[in-house]
Amino acid sequence: MGVFDSGLGGLSVLRAVRTALPHEPLVYVADSRYAPYGERDDDFIVDRTMAIGQWLVARGAKALVVACNTATAQSIAFVRERLSIPLIGVEPGVKPAAALSKTRVVGVLATAVTLRSLRFQALLDRYAADCRFICQPGHGLVQAVERCDTRSPELMALLSGYLQPMLDAGADTLVLGCTHYPFLDEAIRSIAGDRLQIVDTSVAIARQLERQLDLHGLRAAPSASAPLPLFYSTADGESQRQLAATLLGIDTRVQHVVIPSRRTQSLESDAA
Ligand code: DGL
Repeated sequence: MGVFDSGLGGLSVLRAVRTALPHEPLVYVADSRYAPYGERDDDFIVDRTMAIGQWLVARGAKALVVACNTATAQSIAFVRERLSIPLIGVEPGVKPAAALSKTRVVGVLATAVTLRSLRFQALLDRYAADCRFICQPGHGLVQAVERCDTRSPELMALLSGYLQPMLDAGADTLVLGCTHYPFLDEAIRSIAGDRLQIVDTSVAIARQLERQLDLHGLRAAPSASAPLPLFYSTADGESQRQLAATLLGIDTRVQHVVIPSRRTQSLESDAA
């Protein structure tokens, strides 16, 4: 099974998938060389999602988890029509947040691309009648996690600037609308204490994947030992190795991979 993100954020989803489906062989691709997607144009995101999806299918992936809210928002409909395997995307947990919030004020932290997408706007419209959503683009946060920075003073200051207005407006719930942000869980708690309940959808995604595998008869047979995921990165992979060791307790090699696509070919020839 393939799990893909613009970078390291999808590891938070991979962790939930491994817990729910320990016997599934997993291949993780981080497109870290081209992260953050949140600062890219829509065509670039579709192009990369399609190329990485095809690369994973060619390596035998039987399903694909697009463990990136930004890629899901911009490209899942397009890619789903063109790949022959089941696709599972992620979206900000607006629905569970609306159900949880007592003050009826909810903060949403996500990339600018996710927040301006039609898919997200439609989701918000469904729940905005009796709940106020304060949507904040998390500029700089993906880059911090990609550097394995989850607690520097600069990061804390950036994060405080995003969270304080939500707290001042009475928010009691925070949606982590980007799979990189669960790595900032501790930093968020140290700023907001228990004033914000955090909504992260990785466990729900793992459950949805489980349902899809059962629906298509694709579940792996139980094996004596759980297989270790294979990790690939389009960058050097060092941060990914560090986060996989800290977050998943897996100390493993991250293989560098080049996955060409229409848009990156032109970028590379511009750089040459
Ligand atoms: N993890 C991605 C997401 O869930 C980050 C996108 C980016 O690279 O900006 O949106």
